[in-house]
Amino acid sequence: MQGPEDDAGLAGKVALISGGGAAGDGIGNGRAAAILLARAGAKVLVADRDLKLAERTVEMIAAEGGTAAAHGGDVTSETDCKTLVEAALDRWGRLDFLDNNVGIGSRGSVVDEAPEQYRRVMQVNVETMFLLSKHAIPAMIKTARGGAIVNISSISALRPRGLTSYTTSKAAIIGLTRAMAVDHGRDNIRVNCICPGPMYTPMVYARGMSEQARAQRANASVLKTEGTGWDVGHAVKFLLSNFARYITGQVLVVDGGVTLQAPERESQEH
Ligand SMILES: NC(=O)c1ccc[n+]([C@@H]2O[C@H](COP(=O)([O-])OP(=O)(O)OC[C@H]3O[C@@H](n4cnc5c(N)ncnc54)[C@H](O)[C@@H]3O)[C@@H](O)[C@H]2O)c1
Repeated sequence: MQGPEDDAGLAGKVALISGGGAAGDGIGNGRAAAILLARAGAKVLVADRDLKLAERTVEMIAAEGGTAAAHGGDVTSETDCKTLVEAALDRWGRLDFLDNNVGIGSRGSVVDEAPEQYRRVMQVNVETMFLLSKHAIPAMIKTARGGAIVNISSISALRPRGLTSYTTSKAAIIGLTRAMAVDHGRDNIRVNCICPGPMYTPMVYARGMSEQARAQRANASVLKTEGTGWDVGHAVKFLLSNFARYITGQVLVVDGGVTLQAPERESQEH
C-alpha cells in the first residue's frame, strides 16, 4: 500500500535551472535535471546564457509532453537573476526548486593563472549561485512556504588535481551550501550540494576527447564506468524531492568512486 512517504512531491512544483542548455542534443548536467524533473511532473524554467540551447532543452521536454519554458540570461548579472525568478513566478505563480548548475573550468597553478581569470572563475562558479539564491529564496518562502536548492560543485573540491581557480571555486560552493542550509532551514528550505566526477557531457566532449582519454576516465572510477549528465540529473531530482526531506547541508559525491582511489595508484595500475 502506498503512503505519503512514496510521493516524491515534484508534480506541479516549479523548478529553475541555471545553465539548463547543452550543445546540440547532448545531455549536460542541467539539461538532464530539467528533463527528469519535467518527467516527474514539475514545471521547469530552463535558463541559459545561450537562449537557443535552453530552447532545445524545452523542445526535448515538450516532445515528451512535459512543461517547460526557456529564458535567456547571464547569471553573473544580478538583474538577470532577478528577471529569471520573476519569469518563473509570472508564468506559474510559484517557485519551489533551484538547481544552481552554471560553472566554467580553468587550468593552471596559482603562479600560472592570471588574477583576472581567477576572479572570473570565482564570479561564474560561486557568485552566480549567491545571486540567484538571493532572489530565489524570498520567492520560495513567499509563494511555496519553502523549497529546495542544489548547488553543483565538483570532486575537484574534495580531491584537487591542481586547477587552482576551479578547485577553489568548487570548494567555496560547499561552504556556501552549508551556510545557506543553516540560515534557511527555518524557512523550510533545504540546500545541498553535488560533487560530480568526470561526466561525459557536451562541455567535455566539445573540446574533443580521444577514445583513449575516455577509457582513462572510465578506469579512474572503481566501477570502471564513465558518468553522464543523467547521473547528476538523477541526484538533483532526488535531493529536490520529498525523499530527501531530512537531508540538508550535505555533499553528495556522484563519481563512480573516483575519489576513493589515490591518483598515484591509478597511474601505477594503468
Ligand atoms: N562535466 C563534468 O565532467 C563536470 C564535472 C564536475 C562538475 N561539473 C559541473 O557541472 C555543471 C554543469 O556542467 P556541464 O558539463 O553540464 O556544463 P556545460 O558547460 O554544458 O554548461 C551548461 C550550460 O551553462 C551555460 N552557461 C555558462 N555560463 C553561463 C552564465 N554565466 N549564465 C547562464 N548560463 C551559462 C552554458 O551556455 C551551457 O549551456 C558545472 O557547474 C560544472 O562545473 C561538470
